[in-house]
Order: sequence, then structure tokens, then C-alpha cells
Amino acid sequence: MPENSHEKTLAALGVTQPDQVAPLFARLLSQASAELNALASPEAFEKFRVNWFGRKAGVVTLVGDNWLKPAARELKPAVGQELNKFKAQLEAQMEARRAAIESGAKETVSVKDRVDLSLPGATRPVGSRHLVRQVFQEIEDIFVSIGFSVVEGPEIETPYYNFEALNIPEFHPVRDDMDTFYVEAAGESGPKTTPGSLLLRTHTSPVQIRTMEKQKPPVRVIVPGKVYRRDNPDATHSFMFHQIEGLAVDTDITFCDFTGTIEYFVRQYFGPSVKTRFRPSYFPFTEPSVEFDVSCIFCGGSGVAANGATCGKCKGSAWIELFGAGMVDPAVYGFVNYDAKKLSGFAFGMGMDRLAMLKYGIDDIQAFFQNDVRFLRQFP
Ligand code: PHE
Repeated sequence: MPENSHEKTLAALGVTQPDQVAPLFARLLSQASAELNALASPEAFEKFRVNWFGRKAGVVTLVGDNWLKPAARELKPAVGQELNKFKAQLEAQMEARRAAIESGAKETVSVKDRVDLSLPGATRPVGSRHLVRQVFQEIEDIFVSIGFSVVEGPEIETPYYNFEALNIPEFHPVRDDMDTFYVEAAGESGPKTTPGSLLLRTHTSPVQIRTMEKQKPPVRVIVPGKVYRRDNPDATHSFMFHQIEGLAVDTDITFCDFTGTIEYFVRQYFGPSVKTRFRPSYFPFTEPSVEFDVSCIFCGGSGVAANGATCGKCKGSAWIELFGAGMVDPAVYGFVNYDAKKLSGFAFGMGMDRLAMLKYGIDDIQAFFQNDVRFLRQFP
């Protein structure tokens, strides 16, 4: 059947029997369906609709004009019925297609927005703990394993805690050794503190006092934290550095407990073959006071480097200075209402950065604070 069958009359198409009518409409419907199914856009759909259902010259109108109206009487009922069926079927198919085209249009939009899960993601590099933090943790673990607890204190201190209560009265000459940052801070009610009434702590020792004020003996604490001194920066000095303070006070702590504890720590930290020694020293808040040394970890305590030359790290002395310590001066107990007659104890203050530099072979303290990722990445 030619595609333009609807432009001819039934007589011209040779349809004379009612049973020829249904196949005629069936062919027309399959032609329409084929066209319809090829439609992809709303525009094409609209063209199709006009072409088939347009009032004036649409196929359906022409079928009415050419097939139905001039049909012979015996054919009319069949043509009328088939035409109605045809319209209903085509309309239903068109509705389905319209919906498909619309959701297809939506799909194209969402394809644009769709996340392609096969693409490599935006990688956010995961950081790691700073070496200073790692070494703090290492040292804390060692002391916690032998019964110490970790406490912290404020970095802005009063001269009372930083000096006086540690047996360093106002005009004591050791204050001159600590080129101190004094600060003025806004008080709670507004006005600034008077000059000299607050300072950045020069050591972690004030936390000894704060701990003993709060806690009855026995006391076994370590205090990690930042301390500040008005030092000019060089390979071994920084205006801010880190210390770990230690304090143990009880009724029967001896000098042997003290050296035994330090020796245990040093071996745990540097390794079992390392030796320790102490030399007399002076701190106003310990008596006796000592300076602990460790056998040079670079030349194995021989004073001679691997190439036979004098060890540059210990300068041939075979020993490396580690930190200051001592038995708590009884005068300190007076400031915290501890009974100096019954109690004894020891304290130490280790330069954390120095301990880290020795163990990890870092020769410039500034590397800790410059945040150069090439440095940081070496300690993941
Ligand atoms: N606070 C001292 C310093 O910073 C170190 C120290 C602590 C010495 C505890 C003895 C006891 O130099």
C-alpha cells in the first residue's frame, strides 16, 4: 500500500468488502507506529502530531474525508469503527512516546551531571604527626609505663609560679639567665595587667608547683609543653622550644630511685648500650642538683668517629650533655604546704627538641619550626 493511501478513496484503493477495512487500518497504524518510534525530540513529536492529527490536513482528517465520508453504505459502519479504534490506539501510543521523549530529555541532563565513578578522585594528602609530637609521645609512653601520669599547665604564667615558688626570689641572679618575655594581657574585667605580672613560662617547672598545690603525695607526673626564652635563633636555640618536666615526690624517694629512673628512661629512649653519668650542677629548686650526660650515641662513647677522627658531636669527650635535674629542694615544699621533713623527691627538665635532634640526627633546631614538608616527610 502506498504511503499516501489516505489521499485516495476506498473505491480507488479497491476496498469493496467490509473485511478489507480492518487490514487497511492495521497497515496505517503500523506506518504511524514506525514513524512514532523513530521520534527523539519534542519538536519532532509535535511535527508528527500535526501531520497525523492536524485539523485541516492531518492524516486522520483525510481518512475521514476520503475513506469514511464517501464510503459505500455497507462499508461505512466498519470504516467508522476502525477509524475510532485507530485514533484511540494511535493516541495511546503517542502518549507513551511523549512520556519516553520527555524522560529521555531529563536523562540527557542528568548524564551531564552524573558523577563518573571511574575517574580518579581528588586526593587529599594525609598529614602525619610532627616529629616533636611523635617524640613527646615516645617519652610519655616510657614514663607512663613506670607509673607516671601526664599533666599540663598554662604557657602564660605568673612570676610566682615561674620563679618565686621555685625558690627563685625576685632579685635572684638566675633570673638573668632566663631572658624572659613579659606580657600584658587584658584582664577579665577589661584593663590590662600591670607590666611584669605575667610572662611566657621559661620552663615547665611551674607545673611542679601547680601539681603539688592540687595533689597530695605521692606525686609522679611528667609535663610536656612549650617554653619561651628571649634567645636569638641559631642551630641550637629558638625563642620557643619544648620541655618535658618530671616530678616524683613520696615519703621515701632516694637519690638511687632518681638515678635509676633516669637511667631506665635513657636506655629505653636511646637503646640498651647507652651509659649515663651525672655531674654536680645548680638549680634553686633542687638540692643536690645534677646535669645528666649520656655516652655519645654517635661514636658509641669512644670520642672517635668512624673515620678515625675526633667525634664532632661530642668533640672527643665521649659524653653528651642531656638535661638538668635534682632532688627537690625542701624549700619548695614550703610553698605548697608539703611536709619537708617527711617527704623527698626528684625533678628533671629535659629539652625535648634536643632529645629529638640527638636521636634522629637533626642538626638544626629551626627545622622543627620551618614546616618544610621535605623535612616533615622524613618522619611519617
Ligand atoms: N627548669 C630547669 C631548666 O629549664 C630544668 C630543671 C627542671 C632542673 C627540674 C631541675 C629540675 O633549665
